[in-house]
Amino acid sequence: MSRGRVKYKSLEQASPSGLQISDLLLAAEEVAETVNFGRIFGNDRPVEVEIGSGKGGFLIEAAQRRPGHNFLGLEYMGKFAMYIADRAVRHGLGNVRVLGVDASHLFLHRMCPACIDLLHVYHPDPWPKKRHHKRRLFQTSFVDAAIRSLKAGGRWYIQTDHAEYFEVMKAVTLDRQELEPIDFTDPEAVAEPAVLQTNFAVRYGQGGESIYQLAFRKK
Ligand SMILES: C[S@@+](CC[C@H](N)C(=O)[O-])C[C@H]1O[C@@H](n2cnc3c(N)ncnc32)[C@H](O)[C@@H]1O
Repeated sequence: MSRGRVKYKSLEQASPSGLQISDLLLAAEEVAETVNFGRIFGNDRPVEVEIGSGKGGFLIEAAQRRPGHNFLGLEYMGKFAMYIADRAVRHGLGNVRVLGVDASHLFLHRMCPACIDLLHVYHPDPWPKKRHHKRRLFQTSFVDAAIRSLKAGGRWYIQTDHAEYFEVMKAVTLDRQELEPIDFTDPEAVAEPAVLQTNFAVRYGQGGESIYQLAFRKK
């Protein structure tokens, strides 16, 4: 087992591909210093990062579609992080890594500059109560960090079902000179179908609720 990997004995069965959960589920020590994707993935392929991967519906499908890309899922609920890593093992996805940390802290303090090709944020927790708004991911400081982390030409895709939070997302992104708005339905990214069917979108979109999207390219 390489340094910094977490060992989960109960689920430690090798998949037909030879992958184990401990290969894909990174320990927090892996990002004790500035994130180094070359070290994490062992190659210099394009990197896609998803913040708040939940059960991994998007991450697993995207990693299957784009085997030449590296995928890092950030999910701070440990049981979900392990579930995603388990799914990735079962699908033989050696291009996936999962990290059970607070993505906001990671972006603010540890993320490498100009190192991400595609950033995905789908259905981040809306924290609807006013006294909880400070817990929201979309704050100016986070947007600063997200912009810093993107390569020039890198793209950022955002989807939510929460109208009020969407207004906040627009308020902290649309006036940023570094970001050029682009079409969400970019065939090179994940946007097929037009509404991304993440676990959350499927679960809560059954009643025909609106889905709101933003997409940007870093200039
Ligand atoms: C509403 S769910 C959406 C999950 C998935 N993106 C989807 O669309 O199905 C939000 C997820 O983000 C995770 N999350 C929220 N804030 C986070 C943070 N700061 N860092 C990492 N994960 C976070 C939560 O644990 C939860 O699994």
